[in-house]
Amino acid sequence: MFEEHREGEVTFLRPPLPKVPTASMPVFYNPKSELNRDTTIIALEAFLLRSGKSDVRVCTPLAGTGVRAIRIAKEVSGIKKVVAGDANPTAIELIEKNRKLNDLTEKIEIHHSGANRLLTQYSSFHQRFDVIDIDPFGSPREFVTSAISALKPHGLLCLTATDMPVLVGIRHETCIKRYAAVPQKTEYAHELALRILLGWVVREAAAQDMGLKPLLSFSIDHYVRLYCEALEGDDNTWTAVSQLGYIGHCKICGFRSVLHGLTPSYSPCPHCQTDTMQQAGPLWVGRFAEKGFIEEVIHQADNHTIGTQKRTISLLEKLRDEVEGPPTYYNLHNLADRLNVPVPPFRIIIDELRETNEFCSRTHFSPHAIRTSATEERLTKLLLKLTKEV
Ligand SMILES: C[S@@+](CC[C@H](N)C(=O)[O-])C[C@H]1O[C@@H](n2cnc3c(N)ncnc32)[C@H](O)[C@@H]1O
Ligand SMILES: [Zn+2]
Repeated sequence: MFEEHREGEVTFLRPPLPKVPTASMPVFYNPKSELNRDTTIIALEAFLLRSGKSDVRVCTPLAGTGVRAIRIAKEVSGIKKVVAGDANPTAIELIEKNRKLNDLTEKIEIHHSGANRLLTQYSSFHQRFDVIDIDPFGSPREFVTSAISALKPHGLLCLTATDMPVLVGIRHETCIKRYAAVPQKTEYAHELALRILLGWVVREAAAQDMGLKPLLSFSIDHYVRLYCEALEGDDNTWTAVSQLGYIGHCKICGFRSVLHGLTPSYSPCPHCQTDTMQQAGPLWVGRFAEKGFIEEVIHQADNHTIGTQKRTISLLEKLRDEVEGPPTYYNLHNLADRLNVPVPPFRIIIDELRETNEFCSRTHFSPHAIRTSATEERLTKLLLKLTKEV
């Protein structure tokens, strides 16, 4: 019933693949998530190297085939134990086979358990984990509270969300109910999705006196992925909470404003003075990754056998270049369409804006967009000028 497959440095058994992987598979495995698992390996390696941790204990409470747990145990240095859990009994049988196949009986502990029950079981202070990886079907919402309670201070919370229609605002009301945040269907909705998820996780952690510091976050394919370091205590918690706020978007002129704090503001658009600002949030308005950490992860990408190396490095390099820029990005194809002009080469636009001291980079969120401190009005003028010059 199962077939052998290779990913990273391990061989494992997986179910035959339907055209679209669904939760009704005997055991869930999505080959499209290989980049998600590859980045997990190199992000963990970079994190453990910078923190100097050894004898590391990791928990993957939604393990599926166990491929992620097995790869972590085999490919990341300094791992003492990986606890793998799943509620599906067929998944548990498969993880046991995969553990044996990779000779990891000592290193991998298997639990047939609901994720919350497993995490709660490990939430007493001395049993907590150094790393927890939440990789669910859809939203991680129901697992975050117990994950935070089972994470050591200075531990790493890794989290996937695949409920993109909710987070980007197609299912507007569900986003409000699930994440207590208002989404907006702007051209940068994928960035708002990441910021809404991050803002919500930060609030959940803050309620347990844990301040989260995002080291790496991105949105790609069908999901958002976050890597946050957990820092204990009032000061750290307050530092995290003070990065919450709203992003306003003027429906008339496209002006964007970033508001820190959780008190709503009803002021008109500072740019065109109309009363048309739509607010998204509360969400994370700070940096969603740390440039130094991304560089360390890129370095690890060169030292590991990862099947998605080229795409992963390209993603990480875009993140590195954009992460210190302002929130939100501009889709130049949409803007050029509205102006009825061709899109000039991105390189020329980026150079022109940088020459006048504006921040400007590409963005990993969209191949059609740039992240810049320039306003839409400035971009409009630039596109018109460059079109005339061509
Ligand atoms: C998206 S899959 C995990 C994929 C895996 N992490 C990987 O990288 O291939 C989600 C897994 O969570 C399991 N699951 C769903 N709800 C659960 C729950 N409440 N507790 C434990 N496992 C659960 C499912 O059986 C499934 O195997
Ligand atoms: Zn305006």
